[in-house]
Amino acid sequence: MTDPLNRCFAPAQLGSRSLRNRLIKSATFEGKCLNGVPTPELVRLHERIGEGGVGMTTLAYCAAEADGRIHENMLYMHEGIRGPLEELIRRVRATGALVSGQLGHCGNFSKNRAFQGRRPLGPSAGINPLGLTYGLPFAGALSKSQIRRRVEVFGQAAAFMKSVGFDAIEIHFGHGYGISQFLSPRTNRRTDEYGGSLENRMRFGLECLAAVREAVGDGFPLLGKISMMDGVRGGIGVEDALEIAAALERESLDLVVCSGGTSSMNPMLLFRGDSLLPGLLEQEKSALMRLGMKLSGKRMFREYPFEETYFFDAARRIRDRVKCGVCYVGGANSNDSLRKLMSAGFDFVQLGRPLLYDPDMPKRAASEIGYANGCSHCNRCATLIDAPGGIQCVERPKNFELGTPD
Ligand SMILES: Cc1cc2nc3c(=O)[nH]c(=O)nc-3n(C[C@H](O)[C@H](O)[C@H](O)COP(=O)(O)O)c2cc1C
Repeated sequence: MTDPLNRCFAPAQLGSRSLRNRLIKSATFEGKCLNGVPTPELVRLHERIGEGGVGMTTLAYCAAEADGRIHENMLYMHEGIRGPLEELIRRVRATGALVSGQLGHCGNFSKNRAFQGRRPLGPSAGINPLGLTYGLPFAGALSKSQIRRRVEVFGQAAAFMKSVGFDAIEIHFGHGYGISQFLSPRTNRRTDEYGGSLENRMRFGLECLAAVREAVGDGFPLLGKISMMDGVRGGIGVEDALEIAAALERESLDLVVCSGGTSSMNPMLLFRGDSLLPGLLEQEKSALMRLGMKLSGKRMFREYPFEETYFFDAARRIRDRVKCGVCYVGGANSNDSLRKLMSAGFDFVQLGRPLLYDPDMPKRAASEIGYANGCSHCNRCATLIDAPGGIQCVERPKNFELGTPD
């Protein structure tokens, strides 16, 4: 009998593009951009990931507009960075990997100093906990014309990304970001056609997807990362996610990426393993924020011990529900896991922390029987997002240095 793992390492089609295998580097905001411009370290990181044999890497985070950034150093899609993005894409493609960009909007949470007193805008007004010590304590509610404008911005950003040479775009529908704030009844308290029923709460996201599809045309690969559950009281659960995935499929999404959690309220659900809190406390400069984090620590950073393929059961329900492609993400660390995911019919698998630990995982997993990645899920990489120099694996810190990796 053929080993299902072989399917993982054979070329696979995604829309009009052919990937050399079914492994995709998941979006891991690298923190390697300065004033919104990619640094040589960001380029090198993705090139190194490409050298390790992945089918496609994902550049994160690509904000749809300047106000879609959590802080001012993040990338936002505009002509001023065409040159550096083209260079990044050229260098990665030379390794044989394709390049996707995660397109998103932070919506109601931001600590972007460029707001200069204006409020970040989401579906409903409220507190902006991230901005408390940045002079941005409140978030405002989008008017209908502002919603229309934001939808247009998604389309314009997608047109720009295609023109720069991205092979695919992954729209961020999850993790409590801008679109997910509309999907979740916890953050969407609108009473117009964008709030209330699930159908209404899906409207903004579907309009963004339609604008992106119109901008890039048929055949251009579109991925959508969803949270299958928010993991907070009053948030969405898997039953809602099944409907969301089906609606995205109807609106021409090629690949649903099945994640979970909200980075602002329950981040440990998506990064299972050691708590982010100790590392974040080390990085936080404001004493007030540190105090707030300590006080809310237990509620915010809940315990979710790491398990291999921790989203398997929920993601399989999405797999069973839709006919479009489905991508697994979350704790796929070994050949045993990849085999299980291929047997269950997932079309692609995204890898985040395992590739930060061992960028050569795709090549090694294809050639070493019983490959198991050594990432310990200490999650220190994720606490370095805002640190000088951005993320790195603290267990194998030389992985992304220029020159020969260890
Ligand atoms: C350092 C780091 C940064 C991340 N940034 C993002 C991001 O910008 N967008 C996103 O959708 N997920 C982000 N994630 C979540 C990963 O894409 C992925 O869903 C999660 O790490 C689980 O997959 P893994 O077990 O393969 O790491 C990040 C994860 C890490 C470790």
